[in-house]
Amino acid sequence: MTLTATIDHPPVPHAPSHRVRVWDLPTRLFHWSLAGAIVGLVGTGYVGGAMMYWHARLGYLVLTLLLFRIVWGFVGGKWSRFRSFMYSPRRVIRYLRGEEAGGLGHNPIGALSVYAMLVGLIAQVGTGLVSDDQISFTGPLNRFVSEAQGLAATWFHKQVGQWMLAALILLHIAAIAFYMIRRHKNLIQPMIDGDSGPVPLQPQLVASRDDARARFAALLVFAVCASGVAWMTRLG
Ligand code: HEM
Ligand code: HEM
Repeated sequence: MTLTATIDHPPVPHAPSHRVRVWDLPTRLFHWSLAGAIVGLVGTGYVGGAMMYWHARLGYLVLTLLLFRIVWGFVGGKWSRFRSFMYSPRRVIRYLRGEEAGGLGHNPIGALSVYAMLVGLIAQVGTGLVSDDQISFTGPLNRFVSEAQGLAATWFHKQVGQWMLAALILLHIAAIAFYMIRRHKNLIQPMIDGDSGPVPLQPQLVASRDDARARFAALLVFAVCASGVAWMTRLG
């Protein structure tokens, strides 16, 4: 049995177990800031008018968060790295058939949903940046596309992107509720305090690095991403 096949199983009563740092603080801050920003974006997007000022700013925050997460996917804590949740189609099928248990970090289906959400978010921000609502708002990169392209992007943003994202986010929350209710696995707690539920003691299990130096590095990465986005907004 592989290592990952063992950690998803409930610990044997009284067997030694421990909790492992799975989501480092930067990943948790990324997640909850992203969720908050999306709620704000939907609100400001629908109110429109003067709220478009805040809609754009929240959109820039989401872009900064996405850029940060992409970099963090290469240099962040072990379980936040893309390498730790890059599964072959064969493993996804094995997981769906119940032939392979999930381990720490994102399981094969969770990973698919994470990638889908990231791509959906990039598409939504990207189309927002070149959008033109033909009333009072044009995205900062609108002048780099033709009028037809700007209008097509705005159409996608309003008619396709937001619904695609809504579906992915609902699925995301439904999957988390499913794990909680049917599998008695609380995935939310680790996204709050960083640590997995109790897993059988295994010396080979590596925790995500989450010390002061790693957090400081994350702050630097975030600051560089934010500066890049601030520079981009001035192109408009
Ligand atoms: C607009 C709303 C939301 C968005 C866009 C969103 C997006 C994401 C993303 C991108 C990840 C991957 C994290 C990473 O590896 O960096 C994630 C993971 C996660 N999210 Fe959300 N999320 C949202 C709302 C929520 C809510 C309301 C909850 C709690 C009920 C939640 C609970 C979680 C949990 C527990 C994980 C880790 C899943 C796992 O263990 O594989 N999310 N979310
Ligand atoms: C992930 C990020 C984003 C999300 C989830 C989002 C979501 C939304 C939503 C829900 C609407 C309302 C659609 C409707 O009225 O049917 C909207 C409209 C709009 N958004 Fe975004 N948006 C995002 C990013 C951006 C960005 C970065 C910009 C530009 C800087 C932008 C520009 C616009 C414009 C121009 C409209 C049309 C407003 C109107 O016609 O009144 N969005 N967005």
